[in-house]
Amino acid sequence: MNVNRKVLTLDEFTIQELRGLPHATGQLSSLLRDIGLAAKRVNVEVNKAGLVDILGDTGTINVQGEDVKKLDIFANNQFMGVLKHGISCAGIGSEEMDDFVVFDDEISNASKYVVMFDPLDGSGNIDVNISIGTIFSVFKRVSELGKPCTKEDFLQPGNRQVAAGYVIYGSSTMLVYATSRAVNGFTLDTAIGEFCLSHPDIQCPVDGKMYSVNHGNFFQYEKQVQEYITACQKKNKTNGGPYTQRYIGSMVADVHRNLIKGGIFMYPATTDKPKGKLRLMYECKPLAFIVEKAGGKATDGKNRILDLQPEALHQRTPFFIGSKNMMEELEGFLTA
Ligand code: AHG
Ligand code: MN
Ligand code: MN
Repeated sequence: MNVNRKVLTLDEFTIQELRGLPHATGQLSSLLRDIGLAAKRVNVEVNKAGLVDILGDTGTINVQGEDVKKLDIFANNQFMGVLKHGISCAGIGSEEMDDFVVFDDEISNASKYVVMFDPLDGSGNIDVNISIGTIFSVFKRVSELGKPCTKEDFLQPGNRQVAAGYVIYGSSTMLVYATSRAVNGFTLDTAIGEFCLSHPDIQCPVDGKMYSVNHGNFFQYEKQVQEYITACQKKNKTNGGPYTQRYIGSMVADVHRNLIKGGIFMYPATTDKPKGKLRLMYECKPLAFIVEKAGGKATDGKNRILDLQPEALHQRTPFFIGSKNMMEELEGFLTA
């Protein structure tokens, strides 16, 4: 038997990573394993959508004023459940819950990490068989271990994330996560029910040919953004344009494609939503961490996303993220 087989499972990979860190406690590996388990459960439900009564709305509206789908709640409960019952997480924040949740039991209070997540991103696409995802962000606590975690543990800038990742429930199911070391992608092998390392050390191409933006909002964007989008549509020797427009409506899927193939994703401020639509804490910050670690860039149009000091769990921000050279071309327009 070849014990040096190349395809490592998520568990094998995180344990192997621990070998290089003699002081590590293994809590982060355990946390990632917990997230992988919740992702597998959500994946099963996503694949059943249509057969069971999981499609459609719950009839409620979340704190952000958006319709809540049944699968949003299912996913939220799965992620909350594994994190609460694990040994690594002291508390969570979620798109689907009004406030932070402090677990406050003996094991959770001794845990080093807090996690924020968007349980289902692109949930408007659930009913129509289009890729959707989960996004998560992990911070080391700043409060005293042994006590319940506090708001300060959550309200840390993105440059202090210890890990961030996403899951895509698509043509195959993938879990991609970044630590300070690298970005690695794992594909779910449904035959053995394990995420297996399929995309080691992901690097975002410095150039790309795709731009992702909601064109329906074009006349609501500020002038410089309109000018950049117009430039994307023109033949241009220096930038290789015209670019191809791709917009799925599940940011996690758009950003994943651009991470692998090169491209830029934008959700600018609009006149209706002057602060943007996307949420800093559990949508933009984790994706910014991943894409920067892979060599790309992410800003709110002026500032690096990872340097923003957050003020609230559900705060929104304009968002621009992608390949380094495309982002720098955009910055040229925004600072003009
Ligand atoms: P969510 O399903 O978690 O509310 O997020 C949806 C987000 C994002 O994934 C997507 O890119 C964007 O909303 C689409 O918004 P528009 O329909 O306004 O373009
Ligand atoms: Mn989302
Ligand atoms: Mn969501």
